[in-house]
Amino acid sequence: MKLFFYRNKLSSWIHAQDETQRLALIPTMGALHEGHLSLVAAAKHMNCTTLTSIFVNPRQFNNPDDLLRYPRTLDLDIRLLEQAGCDAVFIPESDQVYLPDAAIPHIPLGNLADRLEGSFRPGHFQGVIDVLWSLFQAIKPSNVFFGEKDFQQCMVVKKLLDAQFPEINMHIIPTKREADGLAMSSRNRRLSAEGRLKAPTIFQALQQICAQKQQGVVPQLLAEARAFLERHNISTEYLELAVPETLEPLNHWTSDPAVLLFAGHLEEVRLIDNMRC
Ligand code: PAF
Repeated sequence: MKLFFYRNKLSSWIHAQDETQRLALIPTMGALHEGHLSLVAAAKHMNCTTLTSIFVNPRQFNNPDDLLRYPRTLDLDIRLLEQAGCDAVFIPESDQVYLPDAAIPHIPLGNLADRLEGSFRPGHFQGVIDVLWSLFQAIKPSNVFFGEKDFQQCMVVKKLLDAQFPEINMHIIPTKREADGLAMSSRNRRLSAEGRLKAPTIFQALQQICAQKQQGVVPQLLAEARAFLERHNISTEYLELAVPETLEPLNHWTSDPAVLLFAGHLEEVRLIDNMRC
């Protein structure tokens, strides 16, 4: 597996690749888990040459403490990617991602930018757009892979691709879960043993709402789920039922499928999850 720290070295390697072989980019911020590795596996399954980027992007953190505490496990990440059969890893510093003369275009995100994640993490999606636009521009992959766990991010990436990179194919891979239902996340490792036992309550709450699809009164189901989470020391930032593509909120079961989206805190660790139902 090749390691690249500089974009010019990476570009030479990309240009030396067999042109018939499609290049897949798996953008990550490291602290890899099985969810990330399932993206590499999906790309390999499509016979792509696989390139994973590892860059903790400061522009997408609205909270400096969160950036500081974001887990960094580079040696382990490299070992995991090697075992997964990834072909190359790009591990840039900021100056290799953000060129001083780059004119990152404005992408109209409509409601997507300000709702849910956007309202609790102002500027977050602009930061995500900045880094992905810069990586896509430098690498020009033909395929990109993202996890469905970051559902709203996937919708934002779709907008970026439609507007700027229509030639890139996007693949959204289902969320990987632990045996008890907890969505895999780099942040889970910050939970205490006790917190780890409580965390699957989020999955259970989402399941309980979906189980009452069509019959239950949506605002009431959401309020009951919040209370259930609260009893397990999980505070809710948002818990909403929405239309999958636009994330317009739903007060009735008028969209099929619909998506439930959750963000909240357990032991000061911010966790997100979602479920189509
Ligand atoms: O999902 C993530 O890990 C990040 O938001 C991404 C897509 C790698 C951009 O920094």
